[in-house]
Amino acid sequence: MAIEKVGVVGCGLMGSGIAQVAAQAGYPVTVREVSTQLLEKGLQSIEKNLGRLVEKGTIAAVDRDQIRGRLRGTTNVDDLKDCDIIIEAIIEQLPAKRELWSALDKICPKSAIFASNTSSLSITEMATFTQRPDRFLGLHFFNPVPVMKLVEVIRTIATDPKVFEEVVAFAGKLGKTPVRTTDRTGFIVNRLLVPYILDAVRALEEGVASIEDIDNSMKLGCGHPMGPLTLLDFVGLDTTYYIANIMFDEFKEKRFAPPPLLKRMVLAGWNGRKAGRGFYDYSDPAKPKAMQLT
Ligand SMILES: NC(=O)c1ccc[n+]([C@@H]2O[C@H](COP(=O)([O-])OP(=O)(O)OC[C@H]3O[C@@H](n4cnc5c(N)ncnc54)[C@H](O)[C@@H]3O)[C@@H](O)[C@H]2O)c1
Repeated sequence: MAIEKVGVVGCGLMGSGIAQVAAQAGYPVTVREVSTQLLEKGLQSIEKNLGRLVEKGTIAAVDRDQIRGRLRGTTNVDDLKDCDIIIEAIIEQLPAKRELWSALDKICPKSAIFASNTSSLSITEMATFTQRPDRFLGLHFFNPVPVMKLVEVIRTIATDPKVFEEVVAFAGKLGKTPVRTTDRTGFIVNRLLVPYILDAVRALEEGVASIEDIDNSMKLGCGHPMGPLTLLDFVGLDTTYYIANIMFDEFKEKRFAPPPLLKRMVLAGWNGRKAGRGFYDYSDPAKPKAMQLT
């Protein structure tokens, strides 16, 4: 069965972006939030993004109206029952995902495909909350969704290969570049990125170089758009700490273990850009100033 109608659960940072790109790609989309207030907030961020695209001339005003027309917000989970694929982008907590998937499994036809945007939880474990492990997989988008081209498509040992390829093709139709991977914590990007970022913190801890010199080295020496400590401030120290701990639990390898400095900064609430400080002080967001940490 072809994917014609898309359901998105969660209209936060990721869910709103996923709903936007699916509607932009021509799919009718139903997006569900837990309250009208949160739904409005998510839909407003889509509205703002589309407004910017019109201002820049990327899309015409008439396109924006059509995209809007394809988007339907709801707080009622039953409204997702006629979707061919449901993409889940709710909070990263297993009990919440369990409750959602088992409710959806009861109301959606057997043919519907279920996809989770989780960054760190096991897709295989989530599939056990449903009676359709063969139609369950991961679809991992990157932030900001409308801008970032990559999507990791994740299969478990139980995912039907035909369903997997159907979703790879669907990701292409969303204008993304899909990569195929398997259900190992961190998938491809975080498996490579997290140890690299943690190593940058270790280099700082060990007095190898200053914050600015570590960042400039990777920018100017390797052509990265930003250094690892600036990147860590962007992603959020708390989020990275959480993911690193999950990866360490899974693999028991030192390269995934969060360094003590990272842990202490998270305990202090210095979670990066969103907290006003991390490796840099963002009192003047246009001119971040390196912190004195060691
Ligand atoms: N933030 C990132 O950079 C990023 C990147 C890739 C994947 N992810 C993953 O995407 C998912 C969402 O992350 P986010 O950053 O968008 O979080 P977020 O907090 O911005 O959004 C989550 C939203 O889900 C809503 N929600 C919670 N339970 C719900 C339910 N039962 N039904 C409908 N909505 C519900 C919340 O109200 C909230 O608005 C997580 O699994 C996360 O690991 C995040």
